[in-house]
Amino acid sequence: MSKCGQMQLVLVGGGGHCRACLDVIERQDGFAVAGILDPALRPGERVLGYPVLGDDGRLPSLVKEGRCFLVTVGQTGAGALRQELFARILSLGGEAPVVISPLAYVSPHASIGAGTIVMHHAIVNAGATVGRNCIVNTRALVEHDVVVGDHCHVATGAVVNGGAVLEEGAFLGSGVVCRQGVRIGKESVVGCGVTVLRDVAPGSVFVGRQ
Ligand SMILES: CC(C)(COP(=O)(O)OP(=O)(O)OC[C@H]1O[C@@H](n2cnc3c(N)ncnc32)[C@H](O)[C@@H]1OP(=O)(O)O)[C@@H](O)C(=O)NCCC(=O)NCCS
Repeated sequence: MSKCGQMQLVLVGGGGHCRACLDVIERQDGFAVAGILDPALRPGERVLGYPVLGDDGRLPSLVKEGRCFLVTVGQTGAGALRQELFARILSLGGEAPVVISPLAYVSPHASIGAGTIVMHHAIVNAGATVGRNCIVNTRALVEHDVVVGDHCHVATGAVVNGGAVLEEGAFLGSGVVCRQGVRIGKESVVGCGVTVLRDVAPGSVFVGRQ
């Protein structure tokens, strides 16, 4: 059994996205929440009943203790902090399991990368590939053959139609609809409610005025 055998999970980031993740994690048998890291919270404070263990300076000792990690810092635009934290966890030798809500559907013909969470009522359809450290948020739809790169966030209720590509670090806001086959460039941001009919350039912010 790997050092993740007990699935003692530490959540890195204690805000709103963390609370939503806790709700997903609590609905699975495979994980126990060991605690939360967040520099903005006091050690010993509780988030939905789980203890704050300190800040990310605790990461090396927690890796040594065999804890696993999920980055639960939210992302509503560029996600540099999520990327940094994930890289730090891996560089320390920490493990980051995949977390899938029992209320989500992930096709057996899809793949999900390490450290990614698929939240309640999301769907990841056949042939889709979702990278590492991603958020497939509540009620998001990742259709057949979509490729989602590492560190992307497909926000609540967003629809990514067949064969679309999200390059690394892209953010799709809540309720976005992507036409099939479009390419969303690396670290670009698509605002909530926007319909994407054409490719979005890397690093750009698209709010529907293409
Ligand atoms: C795209 C976004 C990141 C831009 O935020 P921002 O940099 O603070 O930009 P502002 O709110 O100052 O808006 C700048 C301009 O873009 C417009 N705009 C911003 N977001 C828009 C959107 N989603 N659709 C259409 N227009 C939008 C604003 O009306 C404003 O227009 P103006 O210059 O004519 O006044 C933000 O609006 C957004 O959509 N965030 C995602 C929220 C979300 O989906 N959260 C989900 C969490 S699960």
